[in-house]
Amino acid sequence: MSTTGATARVTVKSPDQMQELGRRLAPLLRPGDLVLLTGELGAGKTTLTRGLGEALGVRGAVTSPTFVIARVHPSLTGGPALVHVDAYRLGGGLDEMEDLDLDVSLPESVVVVEWGEGKVEELAEDRLHVVIGRAVGADAPGGLDGHPEEDADDVREVTVTGVGARWADAGLGELEIC
Ligand SMILES: Nc1ncnc2c1ncn2[C@@H]1O[C@H](COP(=O)(O)OP(=O)(O)OP(=O)(O)O)[C@@H](O)[C@H]1O
Ligand SMILES: [Mg+2]
Repeated sequence: MSTTGATARVTVKSPDQMQELGRRLAPLLRPGDLVLLTGELGAGKTTLTRGLGEALGVRGAVTSPTFVIARVHPSLTGGPALVHVDAYRLGGGLDEMEDLDLDVSLPESVVVVEWGEGKVEELAEDRLHVVIGRAVGADAPGGLDGHPEEDADDVREVTVTGVGARWADAGLGELEIC
């Protein structure tokens, strides 16, 4: 069994808050880090990555890649590039990923993979696993706690787990103060 470094749980109530979570995650990331994003269609994986890219200071808008499997966003600030992968159509896993022949060094980049579970874990021994789920029981109509501006359909429970020694003391707890 691999070491579980740390876990943080965050309740996110809007797309803006999801993007903010991405911004708060960015300072914890270093070159060579692998982040796996898990969650159903429309969970908010790309939205979180957008905030990450913003705070990392990378070039280009983070969007849902429709025809490309991976997109490289170079840093504008001398930091690591962001490699954003949508592995949804990636059948074979790592081999195909290597065949993409990305013009970038993965050990010098932050690699974020949507739909990568079971496919790209071999890329790095240590990884951060972000699981985005719909909140249980969040189907009450008319907003949350009497706040009609908040839509219960927009609530997500986000679990961030660090796998491996890299994440043992990485300060994931800071993410919980939302
Ligand atoms: N709390 C929330 N966090 C993130 N997105 C939310 C939230 N509430 C509603 N949304 C909406 O859900 C959608 C999330 O889309 P996004 O592209 O980020 O999902 P995804 O997980 O990347 O999906 P896919 O698997 O298709 O790539 C957006 O339209 C966004 O406005
Ligand atoms: Mg997406």
